[in-house]
Amino acid sequence: MPTQSANARAKLVVGNWKMHGRLAENAALLQAVAQGVGELNADVRVGVCVPSPYLAQTQSLLEGGPVAWGAQDVSAFSHGAYTGEVAAGMVAEFGATLVIVGHSERRAYHRESAELVGIKTQRVLEAGLTPIVCVGETLEEREAGLTEQVVADQLDEVLVKLSVEDAARIVVAYEPVWAIGTGKSASSDQAQAVHAFLRSRLAAKGAAVASVPLLYGGSVKPDNAEELFSQSDIDGGLIGGASLKAQDFLAICKAAAATGVAG
Ligand code: 13P
Repeated sequence: MPTQSANARAKLVVGNWKMHGRLAENAALLQAVAQGVGELNADVRVGVCVPSPYLAQTQSLLEGGPVAWGAQDVSAFSHGAYTGEVAAGMVAEFGATLVIVGHSERRAYHRESAELVGIKTQRVLEAGLTPIVCVGETLEEREAGLTEQVVADQLDEVLVKLSVEDAARIVVAYEPVWAIGTGKSASSDQAQAVHAFLRSRLAAKGAAVASVPLLYGGSVKPDNAEELFSQSDIDGGLIGGASLKAQDFLAICKAAAATGVAG
């Protein structure tokens, strides 16, 4: 795990920049985040997942500091004639430790199946990196009472491909699709209920898997982060829009530190 702390149970906050950034603004943001996290002097783990062309820049600015970094997707193949693809092993060469897999935007816009997400998770683990596996239901699925079934199917397609040892190395992010980029976060009760359910699915895979970090993502902001992170099965957050503003992202990291380790 990427860590600034020896405490494996400290909360984890990861920024997902999505397709945002340019060299000059990245530099300002990365420097502000690294400095701010350093000054927090608190027990919280922080990472940023940047567009792959910026991994070298990110490495040069974050190396040796308290913030981990990574990519937002990788190929299902380790190398070969796959034009446009980026292999997990390439991401690893830039000092990255994290890769988001199965984000709902990739499932929706790139037709990524649950099975493909499982294969990508394997590639990430083979490269020695930590996959952040995203699961989440659409509004229609929630309203039809299908939330648990949808997230269980998404998670199970990944777990079935992994040994217990490898499954214990993943991070899972619950991101309800209807809460992403909408400004309408799940309530802490709604999020906690799904997290508790996911925790039980993980535990069914093996005792060591029950304690993998479970992040919540979807309109996490400075004003709702502490309430969300206070829930017993929420081990941190995957942050979209608010990760692009150093002040907001740092406020969320501070909320994670304030809520301490997961119960
Ligand atoms: P927002 O925080 O912008 O809602 O995005 C969440 C997300 O998709 C993180 O991966």
